[in-house]
Amino acid sequence: MISASFVALVATLGLALLPQPALSQTINGMTYNIRFDSLPDNVTIAQSIAALNGNDIQTPSAFYPNTNERPWSQRRIPLVNGIKNAGVNMFGMEEALVRQVNDVQTLLGSDWAHVGVSRADGTDDNASGAFDNEFGPIFWKKSEFDLLEFDTFWLSQTPFDVGTKAPQAGTTARFKGSSGIFTAMVTHWDDQSDEAREVGASLIIHRANFEALNTKRPVLLFGDFNSPAVNLTTPGCNSCTNGAYQIITGASPPLAINETFAKKFPVPAKSPKFHMVDLKTVAPKESIMGNFATFTGFVPYGETDQMKRIDFIMAGSNGGWEVETYKVGTNVYDDGLYTSDHRPVFSDITLKPGNFAP
Ligand SMILES: *[C@@H]1O[C@H](CO)[C@@H](O)[C@H](O)[C@H]1NC(C)=O
Ligand SMILES: *[C@@H]1O[C@H](CO)[C@@H](O)[C@H](O)[C@H]1NC(C)=O
Ligand SMILES: *[C@@H]1O[C@H](CO)[C@@H](O)[C@H](O)[C@H]1NC(C)=O
Ligand SMILES: *[C@@H]1O[C@H](CO)[C@@H](O)[C@H](O)[C@H]1NC(C)=O
Repeated sequence: MISASFVALVATLGLALLPQPALSQTINGMTYNIRFDSLPDNVTIAQSIAALNGNDIQTPSAFYPNTNERPWSQRRIPLVNGIKNAGVNMFGMEEALVRQVNDVQTLLGSDWAHVGVSRADGTDDNASGAFDNEFGPIFWKKSEFDLLEFDTFWLSQTPFDVGTKAPQAGTTARFKGSSGIFTAMVTHWDDQSDEAREVGASLIIHRANFEALNTKRPVLLFGDFNSPAVNLTTPGCNSCTNGAYQIITGASPPLAINETFAKKFPVPAKSPKFHMVDLKTVAPKESIMGNFATFTGFVPYGETDQMKRIDFIMAGSNGGWEVETYKVGTNVYDDGLYTSDHRPVFSDITLKPGNFAP
């Protein structure tokens, strides 16, 4: 006689062998320009930790006059604590030097991984010995996502020639999570030239379109665009024109891009229209939180005329995602120390299972 519990056991085992249905998955995403290590020193992480005075019951560990940039060795602990505290599971980082990428990885710990290469030499170990060897890595929680593949191209008319940059590249990574495959990109556009930014935007929208056509899955973009949503008239402002924002959001046509690139990542002329969506524009109004500006410099609010929203999280118009929250965080706590001249931008994004062709 076959017992009921035996039947139940067989049924359970049978179910376990079937492919698991894909589920929605939340990306607790962030983009953060952490300001390059412009004041390098030899201070180790252990020395930075030893210098903290966080157990003091009365005063902040120190008070920093808040108009200065501080060395990375003083910024890194509060900066990474801000990331940990926000509960993110994936983020793009801009303007990071090799030392900074390695420190963030060390401080986040082994639950995290990252990929990316630097702009001067296309390596992740400063092989060239360049001082300003910035890169735009993507970090993710290993327990939630598996990296399938990644590549980097350069934001110029010769996008496969390492070192042609403006000022960083396009890091493109495909992941597998519980909702299925998706693409995440990180980028950083020029702070001086609108035309250079427009070249970057044109390459990025093309590549994002290619990803959407080929995966039929969500495409996310994290970046410092140096291009606000609307033109700003501040005199002497270097990154105050919106040509690149217009291109990436589909309001203006892209510039002509390099043909080798277009052939490697083909987007047939008859493809449906595709653009990236600024998540702030589609987030539920009551879930838009925190600050407005994403760039502040190392000065308090109101003491600069350069408070601007130039860092973005975007998603492809082919869909497969829903924005739960949008937030601009803080880059200064009450000890007065600025973690960066940019603020982190956060968004909780639900990715759905299924196909989302453009
Ligand atoms: C770091 O240490 C090396 C070796 O002691 C020294 O040559 C270099 O000048 C130091 N760099 C800084 C920025 O202090
Ligand atoms: C790269 O290496 C050179 C030579 O060791 C060093 O001076 C420079 O600071 C390094 N740059 C980065 C971004 O790590
Ligand atoms: C396109 O990019 C490739 C690879 O970076 C480069 O070799 C080629 O010269 C570029 N084409 C033009 C017309 O600039
Ligand atoms: C905004 O700046 C762009 C250049 O980025 C320019 O093409 C456009 O005409 C400007 N728009 C307005 C309304 O002035």
